[in-house]
Amino acid sequence: MKIKSICCIGAGYVGGPTMAVIALKCPHIQVNVLDVNKDRIDAWNSSDLNNLPVFEPGLSEVVNQARGRNLFFSNNIDEAIDKSEMIFIAVNTPTKTYGEGKGQAADLKFVELCARNIAKVSKSDKIVVEKSTLPVRTAEAVQTILDSSENGVKFDVLSNPEFLAEGTAIKDLFKSDRVLIGGQQTESGKIAISALVEIYSNWIPIEKIYTTNVWSAELSKLVANAFLAQRISSINSISALCEVTGADVNEVATAVGMDSRIGNKFLKSSVGFGGSCFQKDILNLVYIAKSLGLHEVSEYWNQVIKINDYQKKRFAFKIINSLFGNVSEKTITLFGWAFKKDTNDSRESAAIYVANLLIENGAKICVYDPRVTEQQMLLDLDKLNSRSSEENRIALSSFSNYIDACNGSSAIAIITEWDEFKDYDWEQIYKILIKPAKVFDGRNILNKKMIEDLGFEFYAIGG
Ligand code: NAD
Ligand code: UGA
Repeated sequence: MKIKSICCIGAGYVGGPTMAVIALKCPHIQVNVLDVNKDRIDAWNSSDLNNLPVFEPGLSEVVNQARGRNLFFSNNIDEAIDKSEMIFIAVNTPTKTYGEGKGQAADLKFVELCARNIAKVSKSDKIVVEKSTLPVRTAEAVQTILDSSENGVKFDVLSNPEFLAEGTAIKDLFKSDRVLIGGQQTESGKIAISALVEIYSNWIPIEKIYTTNVWSAELSKLVANAFLAQRISSINSISALCEVTGADVNEVATAVGMDSRIGNKFLKSSVGFGGSCFQKDILNLVYIAKSLGLHEVSEYWNQVIKINDYQKKRFAFKIINSLFGNVSEKTITLFGWAFKKDTNDSRESAAIYVANLLIENGAKICVYDPRVTEQQMLLDLDKLNSRSSEENRIALSSFSNYIDACNGSSAIAIITEWDEFKDYDWEQIYKILIKPAKVFDGRNILNKKMIEDLGFEFYAIGG
């Protein structure tokens, strides 16, 4: 079965870049990317490629080549669904904030809405692909909803989780470590799997496309994120030990990672992992295990989250304690708000929690981030419901250049590892800080000797 027309519901960090790359690599396939959010679609259609709603290195070039040729962004969801042979669902699946499973389970209401809509508007057979990260066995619920269609249409559901990381999304999509496709082992299930394999094989070597049953594909996505986050929590737990023993966490990570059985990736100690997925997906795993009565399994994975919370708190209290236990009326400058470099995404960024704790203790926060807007920072803080929006607006200001963000500040805290921070005029920064001037490097990106030689008191994670 040769697919000629696909669509994707959800034009976010996953739907936008993945569909842009499919369109680029498969000029023979018509690709429609759909969203209920009109502003988001308008931004994807913006003639100024700097205004795309997602910032990713290389993305604007891909969009520029494919948009208007075989890549289209639209709010016209029903029409595009009906015209497509294959429909990807890439909507958000946040942690539930209400009801059963609140604070842990994935909220599947957007996925269910999509399935119901597909069932309602489809007039011909479709392959429906889960691209969102979902609890194991969600495909069963999606299939049941689709099968309730009264249009006499047949649906095959596949699971094709996405493994791209933000900041390197285009690179990851061009050269994926693997593409995972789960499907039913029925006649039509096998046809659906091979139709999706054929799309990816336009640029991914066939030996990297791994096909499994649906449940394995769904669960593997949660497990991959849990393993990655577990490595970060492991090294971050060791960073606390390094700080009291005189060992250096970078050296420990290098020494441990040189063992080829362990490997050196994802061992960079930090102020704590952020991003929209690690915490949400592990909480989801914790919830699934608990609901199945596997309490030890659930508690094992919950520790990854606990250490991450501990690391963010530890960093904030390191700042407070070194400022004589008092940050009231003092200004602290945060370099970076995004959850990692090379993205404008700040979901679950450590910056939010560090800023919140400092504000709780009376500090004023000045932020410089090359990509995140002040409006977004305030929205992030407001979401914590720690204080009123007005109080957050008084407590936090963002600046369009780093020098202004440092004026009259008592300390700099590096939260995001943006490359440009390393090349700043640290001599000038020293001059304008209140003395003793302090730097807290939450990403271990600065040269300790260079910073200390300028007169700063320097604190690095695990150093
Ligand atoms: P996102 O919030 O950036 O985008 C989701 C989009 O879906 C939003 O624009 C929203 O308006 C739209 N949407 C929601 N319900 C809709 C509906 N019923 N009809 C049409 N549009 C609807 O989310 P994201 O970061 O792209 O993540 C999407 C999924 O992919 C999640 O399950 C996530 O766990 C997973 N994932 C994300 C990443 C990542 O790096 N962000 C990587 C791998 C997997
Ligand atoms: C992560 C996974 O890497 C992707 O494979 C997955 O598809 C995605 O989640 C998802 O499901 O959403 P992402 O969150 O975009 O990707 O970025 P990562 O590079 O994994 O970084 C996550 C967080 O961990 C960031 O805050 C980063 O700074 C931090 N990190 C990463 C560390 O603190 N140390 C490290 O060694 C690596």
